Amino acid sequence: MRAVEYDRYGDADVLHMVDHPVPQRVHGQLMIEVLASSVNPIDYRIRQGEMKGLLPFGFPRVPGYDVAGIVTESDGDSSFAVGDRVMAFLDHTRGGALADYAVCSDSVAARIPDFMSIQDAAAIPLAGTTALQSLRDHGKIKRGQTVLINGASGGVGMFAVQIAKHYGCHVDAIASSRNREFCLSLGADHFYDYEQDDFTKSDERWDIIFDVSGKAHYLNARAVLKEGGHFVSTEPSITGLLMTILTWPLSKSGQVMLANPSGDDLRELIRLYETGNLNVTIDSTFPFEEAAKAHRRVEEGVDRGKVVLIN
Ligand SMILES: NC(=O)c1ccc[n+]([C@@H]2O[C@H](COP(=O)([O-])OP(=O)(O)OC[C@H]3O[C@@H](n4cnc5c(N)ncnc54)[C@H](OP(=O)(O)O)[C@@H]3O)[C@@H](O)[C@H]2O)c1
Repeated sequence: MRAVEYDRYGDADVLHMVDHPVPQRVHGQLMIEVLASSVNPIDYRIRQGEMKGLLPFGFPRVPGYDVAGIVTESDGDSSFAVGDRVMAFLDHTRGGALADYAVCSDSVAARIPDFMSIQDAAAIPLAGTTALQSLRDHGKIKRGQTVLINGASGGVGMFAVQIAKHYGCHVDAIASSRNREFCLSLGADHFYDYEQDDFTKSDERWDIIFDVSGKAHYLNARAVLKEGGHFVSTEPSITGLLMTILTWPLSKSGQVMLANPSGDDLRELIRLYETGNLNVTIDSTFPFEEAAKAHRRVEEGVDRGKVVLIN
């Protein structure tokens, strides 16, 4: 099969197309013919060597965690049949989405409804799951709360704004000024431009501050968190880990989240999409052969939404 891989850390030029063995499927897994995938910042961060020494398996690596495609092999007792259209958030540290075929556990896939395009399906898994788990599981979101999304116009943020609105919250969005109208169109009640406004000096108070961009600090943000509020960051670091451990008993907690692949959460995101509560914005689409361009696009900063690759 065709795959995009790299055999050393570096810039996007290390990505190259190879003829690669089809991955082995074991019991409990699906084999998926990949029709589309999407790029997330974690893909270029790993490729640059940020997780050097932390990830098993070494080189070569096939990047990517989001797939949308067609089941070509499954177990007899699987809830998925050959021919089903599915999306998945690949559940292994290896990644493997940028290929003609990918394998994953049944438990991290969900059927794509007929009305959803393959591009939208590829855009949802990792970013949508991150937004949902951050607000629901870490932020303990409740109806009527005030929620601040710091980094509202990118892959995760655009889902987070819409999910928080679906929960019936007052939602404030932060991005650069060029994304004001986009964030308001997602349903945000108020917009802050991070180049002009420092939300940590605001008179507003929030129940949840979701720091999607990883640019804020708990110690500054806690001043504008309500009592019982939650600061949730996507940025894994030693200080983030310490924050999670030290602040959990406090009335204003801070946590670093790590997105956990889950078919149930994909079905929840699909339900929101189906009921018109979750729209997908695609920043740009590249053919699979131009994976390096797609990585560069995410690395240099998207205009808004997700970058999708079509096989
Ligand atoms: N821990 C996890 O499991 C997990 C999962 C998913 C993602 N992440 C991390 O989450 C981050 C965001 O992912 P993404 O896919 O949403 O990235 P993205 O699509 O590149 O979006 C980044 C967002 O951050 C905004 N931003 C940039 N500089 C900012 C600043 N100084 N203050 C506030 N906002 C700023 C951007 O706004 P403008 O474009 O308007 O500048 C944009 O809305 C990445 O670092 C990624 O690695 C972690």
